[in-house]
Amino acid sequence: MAFHAVIPCKPCVFRHVRLPRYLWRHSLMKGNVVANSALDTFTTAVRAAWGELSSDLVQVTRTQLDRLLAAEPAEPWLASLRADQPESRELYRDPAHGFVLQAHVERAGTIRTPHDHGLSWVIYGVQDGEVEMTTFARIISPSGGVRLVKRDAARVRAGEVQVYLPGDIHQTECLSPTATLLRFSERDLRAEDKQFGRLTRYVRRGGVWTVGEP
Ligand SMILES: [Fe+2]
Repeated sequence: MAFHAVIPCKPCVFRHVRLPRYLWRHSLMKGNVVANSALDTFTTAVRAAWGELSSDLVQVTRTQLDRLLAAEPAEPWLASLRADQPESRELYRDPAHGFVLQAHVERAGTIRTPHDHGLSWVIYGVQDGEVEMTTFARIISPSGGVRLVKRDAARVRAGEVQVYLPGDIHQTECLSPTATLLRFSERDLRAEDKQFGRLTRYVRRGGVWTVGEP
């Protein structure tokens, strides 16, 4: 079933997705409806491969996100992102498996300070612009104190992706005037944070990143 499938239809077991208004607005190109082909391909392929976290699943999802980053600009979801430049927009949520694809348009200098995503694995893809992504290791001193040590930093450019597995600590900083990021997450990160408090955000204190209240 295509992402832009139109209801009504005969009652059946499939979940039919009604295209959000903002996508319809951008879907009428020269009188024709432009399909979300790359988005459909991404979600279909990830659904088909879905299962327990594994190297194969990460590789499939990474490959598909790579392809999605090369989508035609006329695809409605991408055309609307470019037109609206939203801070955050959910592009897809899988009704069966719970994975989520989110878009974020960041401004120059926007920094998402060190954090992890709890039990979830995520893949960031840069659709447009350039973002520095930094990783850290969590070090515990003999006295029990926690501090982060920077492991690596990468300039992630349009068309490139970075994978973070459960517990991986990372920071993002927008280097270009704007940057459009696609973030795939294994589950709804907002719910994960609110309901279970599993996400950890680090604070800068005494020159080091550590845990605690800001
Ligand atoms: Fe993150």
